[in-house]
This record gives sequence, structure tokens and C-alpha cells, in this order.
Amino acid sequence: MKLMSSFLLCAIAFLVLNFPATTDGAEQFVYNGFAGVNLTLDGNAMVTPDGLLELTNDTVNLGHAFHPTPLTFHNGSSNGTAVQSFSLSLVFAIISVHNDISADGMAFFIAPTKNLSNTWAQYMGLLNSGNEGNATNHMFALELDTTQNEEFQDMDNNHVGVDVNSLKSLQAHHTGYYNDDGSFNNLTLISGKAMQVWADYDGGSTQITVTLAPIGATKPVRPLLSTSYNLSGILKDPSYIGFAATTGAISTKHCVLGWSFAMNGPAPAIDLSKLPKLPRLGPKPRSKVLEITLPIATAIFVLAVGTVILLFVLRKLRYKELREDWEVDFGPHRFSFKDLFHATKGFKQRNLLGEGGFGKVYKGVLPKSKMEVAVKRVSHESRQGMKEFIAEVVSIGRLRHRNLVPLLGYCRRKGELLLVYDYMSNGNLEQYLYCGDNKPSLNWEQRFHIIKGVAFGLFYLHDKWEKVVIHRDIKPSNILLDGEMNGRLGDFGLSRLYDHGSDPHTTHIVGTMGYLAPDLVRTGKASTLTDVFAFGIFLLEVACGQRPIKQNPQGGHRTLVDWVVERWHNGSLTEIVDTRLQDYDSDEACLVLQLGLLCAHPFTSARPSMWQVMQYVEGDTPLPELTAAHFSFTMQALTQNKGFESPGMMYPQLTTSFATFSGISGGR
Ligand SMILES: *[C@@H]1O[C@H](CO)[C@@H](O)[C@H](O)[C@H]1NC(C)=O
Ligand SMILES: *[C@@H]1O[C@H](CO)[C@@H](O)[C@H](O)[C@H]1NC(C)=O
Ligand SMILES: *[C@@H]1O[C@H](CO)[C@@H](O)[C@H](O)[C@H]1NC(C)=O
Ligand SMILES: *[C@@H]1O[C@H](CO)[C@@H](O)[C@H](O)[C@H]1NC(C)=O
Ligand SMILES: *[C@@H]1O[C@H](CO)[C@@H](O)[C@H](O)[C@H]1NC(C)=O
Ligand SMILES: *[C@@H]1O[C@H](CO)[C@@H](O)[C@H](O)[C@H]1NC(C)=O
Ligand SMILES: *[C@@H]1O[C@H](CO)[C@@H](O)[C@H](O)[C@H]1NC(C)=O
Ligand SMILES: *[C@@H]1O[C@H](CO)[C@@H](O)[C@H](O)[C@H]1NC(C)=O
Repeated sequence: MKLMSSFLLCAIAFLVLNFPATTDGAEQFVYNGFAGVNLTLDGNAMVTPDGLLELTNDTVNLGHAFHPTPLTFHNGSSNGTAVQSFSLSLVFAIISVHNDISADGMAFFIAPTKNLSNTWAQYMGLLNSGNEGNATNHMFALELDTTQNEEFQDMDNNHVGVDVNSLKSLQAHHTGYYNDDGSFNNLTLISGKAMQVWADYDGGSTQITVTLAPIGATKPVRPLLSTSYNLSGILKDPSYIGFAATTGAISTKHCVLGWSFAMNGPAPAIDLSKLPKLPRLGPKPRSKVLEITLPIATAIFVLAVGTVILLFVLRKLRYKELREDWEVDFGPHRFSFKDLFHATKGFKQRNLLGEGGFGKVYKGVLPKSKMEVAVKRVSHESRQGMKEFIAEVVSIGRLRHRNLVPLLGYCRRKGELLLVYDYMSNGNLEQYLYCGDNKPSLNWEQRFHIIKGVAFGLFYLHDKWEKVVIHRDIKPSNILLDGEMNGRLGDFGLSRLYDHGSDPHTTHIVGTMGYLAPDLVRTGKASTLTDVFAFGIFLLEVACGQRPIKQNPQGGHRTLVDWVVERWHNGSLTEIVDTRLQDYDSDEACLVLQLGLLCAHPFTSARPSMWQVMQYVEGDTPLPELTAAHFSFTMQALTQNKGFESPGMMYPQLTTSFATFSGISGGR
């Protein structure tokens, strides 16, 4: 029982490991691939992990593979007696980079030595120039030749031959096989396709037959070639059997996939299903059309994919925005950069409406709603105060007040804030006041209407909104005119972004020179009264049609306020009204000029609130009479530093106070 089971184990081990069966006087083996087989290899020969025997694998290669143990071919182990019958079968493939150019062949051999050195390409790894044709070689070979060598009288470059001691074949045949009906099928050795070859030697008749077929086909009945040669005088005992191959300049792989051999009997069948896979060498054989179109198609595909990715990345970068969690609340007011980009045709110069202190303003048409908008690009690196600012502009934007430019929304990118406003078809007031050639000058009625509108808008920001909003930058270029020539305040609160107010050391003043109240210059603190000051300058500007600071011929600066005060002292106030106004209401003009002086008073307590300003311009309350005493009182207050937070600053005189101030500013 124990004996029986160990016998079974041995049998199974033999079957699995494909070890050669050795019986008395007869040997046979079958290798369905060479994984785990102890072949003797030399040169470049190797067995892949898959079990494929590669004799060569490249250019200028030489490789041999020997069956691990030598065989005895003579009966009774006597050199003198006849060689027994033997039979072999092998599955092979010759894979060439260029399957239309002749590569080198390979051979199966029986030789008395494993030392087959000093051989080179044309000798197929079997012989060399020294021993070619020498009877002492004791060699039998089956050549699968892919070159036509004149020296060996080869018939062509695709033949199978039987050789003894020489590469001049005893007999050779063009590669192929006979069908049962006697017709012949050509095969190409270097096609890279696996083929099966059978070789049989009959010891009694000394008949040698060779049969070839494509892999998978049954062994043809009619052999490819058949010859008679008594090997008894040739083969020596013991002899080695194996394969040889060489390659020259053409990169070729000579592969053996399976091998079976038997002495005194037919070679065992090779199990084709167990054979290793063939590798690909060089381009796969394919049609010319594919050979041309495939690389082009591949290139186009790669290019297309690359372009798509590049466009996608560029698009991502181009439309990249900055978004933070707190912005969720303002979602409806958020515009996508892509929309704004398309609305303004990519922020083209042609769409540029103007360039203000905070950035460029572009005209645009929103893609979906076809609504006309003005997009202001404000460059802003700091995130500080951004949340508060957005909250403020968005909350104001919810308002629809006819004297404020409606803010529709915003968009944020890295280092940039984009504000989207209603488009004001008539541009800004500055264009009318100073670019008289391009736009018709405004008549007094229009000017007074705009003044009232701006006063109303500012009053709204100061007093009517749930919290006080300081505009900080009132000036004609920030007064926009809608289709009905209503004055509308734009850019409210924007300067807040740049006002990192809490730390007095880092405080810097924001606004426009010429419109900055002295208390703002001194403390850096904006208030409703600093807005009122700027509004006062604006009133004088509209009435006189002059900029707040003018360079005089002597090279010094002269402020508009100085000039108006001077005329007021002379009692000739109306002389300074814009000369372009042929016809105007002098009472209203005087009101505007005097109110301007009052608002632009250096002493904060002398300035009216916007509520009061509203009363004055609407005529509900008469303007307090401006007297010399009013100014002398002011000067007295100035000299006594009353009402000033900083005692260090002195304003000995109203006029010089503006001169000093304008000296700081350098004009606009
Ligand atoms: C060819 O065979 C040699 C060993 O004989 C090996 O070092 C080399 O990597 C092989 N080349 C290829 C392409 O398989
Ligand atoms: C393989 O064969 C060589 C000689 O042909 C021998 O020295 C070696 O021991 C063998 N290895 C195995 C694992 O059988
Ligand atoms: C081998 O020799 C033995 C006797 O020594 C003989 O019986 C046998 O038939 C021979 N076999 C062949 C194939 O010649
Ligand atoms: C056959 O001859 C060779 C020498 O040619 C010798 O080495 C070998 O031992 C001989 N074999 C037998 C079985 O006598
Ligand atoms: C082949 O040669 C051997 C010895 O050299 C001889 O015994 C045998 O009869 C020969 N066979 C034929 C068919 O001539
Ligand atoms: C192999 O044979 C050559 C001559 O053909 C010889 O020079 C060389 O020494 C031999 N190598 C071995 C290992 O026997
Ligand atoms: C054949 O080879 C043997 C030994 O290798 C040598 O002595 C002999 O001269 C060779 N014969 C010819 C014709 O080259
Ligand atoms: C086979 O090949 C030979 C030689 O190349 C050629 O003459 C013959 O026409 C071929 N036969 C077929 C069927 O292709």
C-alpha cells in the first residue's frame, strides 16, 4: 500500500514536471514548454519565465540549447552496430523584425560534443570554417534555413534540409507541406508564426523523413522530404541533441516552444495548449494601409488629446476664481469669471470705458440676459476686509436708489476683485465738465439736477441705510449719468478696501487729492463730514467748471476754494461761474457756491450734514448767511485749536490751510 502510493506520487511528479522517461535501451521525452527543464544553454540562449526557449534574441547573437543528458543511438551500446530508429517533433518560430528580409535560420542537431564554439552566422551555430564537411564531426542536423548561401548550394532562402557533417544538405525542400490530394502549400519560416516539424529516422531502412505543418494542423501524410542515409557510421555514442541558431545584422528571435523525442518509436505528441506564448519583435505584421495610417492616426489622437488637455488647463486657469466659505451668503450676487470674460469680449481695449483710481472699467453685455453692464476690475491682493467689503457692497447693491449706480454683483479671482454695475449710458460727469469738445457742456438746469441727485444719493448712504456708509471718493469721475441724466454715485465704499483703519501706524489716506478734508489728512479717519467736504469741492467744481487744484503761471498751486473765497470777499461771486453757461439762475448758482464753501470748510463743525444739505438745495431751509465774521470765527477757532483732535496742526488762515493741503497733494 505504502509502496503503491509512493509509486503513484512518482508517476504524477513525472507527468507534471515533464521529466524524460528513461527506459531500458529506449528514451523518450516531451517538453510542452521549457519551464523547469534543465536544458544546457550557451551563448544568448535563454528560457523565458513563461517557458519559451529563445536561442537568440537580437542582432549578432549565437545560442545553443542541449538536452540535459546525452543519448545512446546504437543498439547494445556498441559503436559498431546499427543506429536505432528515432523520432522527433518540435514546435518552433522564427521571428524577425523585418519579416520580408531574410534573417538567419536555426537547426536541430545530434552531435558528440557540447562544444560547438568557433562557429558563426553562416554556419548556423553548428560548424565552422575549420570543420565544415569533416567526417570527424559525427553530426546530423535538420536545418530550417532562411538564407540562401551559395557556399552550401542552398536552393533558396526558405527551405528545410537534412545535413550530415556539413551544411551542404543531403536533401532540401522549399518550406511548406503537402495536402492529402498532393497539392503543396508554401510556408514562410520567418513569418513569425509557430510551425511544427517532425523528423523520423528508420534504423532498418535508414530512411529519413521530414514533415512540416502550421501549428495546430495534423501531421501531413506525405512528408516534405524523404531521403536515405545510413547514420550508423555517423553518430557516435554518447551524443547530445539540441538546437542551434545564430543571427547576423537582422534582429531575429529563434524560438522553440515545444519538443518531444523518442528512440525506437514515434515522438510523443506535444500538447499545443500548454505551449508558451510567442513574443512580438519589432512591428507586428500588418497591412500597408495600417502601417501608414496608424502612426498618423496615433499622432493625431495624441495631439488632439494633448490639445484638449491644454485647452482645459488654460480654460481652468483663464476662468479661475477665488471662492471662500463666507461667500455662500452672497451666492446670488456672484458672477462667474467666464461670463464676465465673454461679456467684455475678453476685457478688450475696445470695451474699456475708463480707468479710475481702483482699476479699469469695461463695458460688457452679459451672455444670457443680454444686459448691458460695466465691469470694474479692481486689483486687490489683500483679503483683509474683503468679507466686510463684499457684505457692504452686496447689501447696498440690494437697494435700488435712483442716485446710486446699482451694483449687480461681483466676482473674485486671485489678486483681483471684479464688480459688476449697471451700465450708465451717459458716462461720468467729468467727461462733460472738462472734455467739452467731445460732449456738449451741461446747462445749468442739468447741473443743478445732478447736484441735487448726488446730494440725495450721499444723504441716502449717510442717513438712510441701516448703517452709515461713507463714500470716501466723491468726485466728478465717480458721478455717473444715466439715460435721463440723473447723477448717480458710483464706487461707494470701494476705498474701504484699502483702508486698513484700525492700526493708526499703518493708516493711510484714501481718496483723491483735492477732495481730501484736512481732518482726514491729519487723522486718516474718514467720516460723513469728510464726505461732505469732498461734496463741497464737487459743488464748486460743477458751478465753476474748474478743477479743484490749478497750477498758476508762477508755478505755484492755487485751489479752487481760495479763488471762490476771494471772489466772495470781493462780493463778485457770480464772476466765477462757468463761462460756458450763457444762461443760468444766479440765485441757484450763488446757493451752490456758498454751500460749496460751507461744506468745504476746514473746520468740521462748520460743515453741514447731508440732511441739512438736502434742506438747502431743495429750498426748504435758507442757507445761513455767510459773513466775514463766519470766517473770522472759524479762524479764531483754528488758532485756538478748538474742535481739533490734534493740537499739533495749525491752520492760521483758511486760505493757507488749503495751500498747505494742496502742497501735500500735488494736484490730480
Ligand atoms: C538577450 O539575451 C541576453 C542573454 O543571453 C540578455 O541579457 C538580454 O537581455 C536579452 N535581450 C532581450 C532583448 O531579451
Ligand atoms: C542540470 O544539468 C547540469 C549538466 O547538464 C547538471 O550539472 C545540473 O546538476 C543539472 N541541474 C539539475 C537541477 O538537474
Ligand atoms: C538491438 O540488439 C538486440 C540484441 O542485442 C536485438 O534483440 C534488437 O532487435 C536490436 N534492436 C534493433 C532496433 O536493432
Ligand atoms: C564509442 O566510441 C567512442 C570513441 O569513438 C568511445 O568513447 C565510446 O566509449 C564508445 N562507446 C561504446 C559504447 O563503446
Ligand atoms: C548501416 O551501417 C551499419 C554499420 O555500419 C550496418 O550494420 C547496417 O547494415 C547498415 N544498414 C543498411 C541499411 O545498409
Ligand atoms: C572547444 O573546441 C575548440 C576547437 O573547436 C577548442 O579550441 C576549445 O578549447 C574547446 N573548448 C572546450 C571547453 O573544450
Ligand atoms: C578533419 O578534422 C580533423 C580533426 O579535427 C583533422 O585532423 C583533419 O585534418 C580534418 N580534415 C579535413 C579534410 O579538414
Ligand atoms: C511557393 O513558393 C514557390 C517559390 O517561392 C513559388 O514558385 C510557388 O508559386 C509558391 N506557391 C504558392 C502556392 O504560393
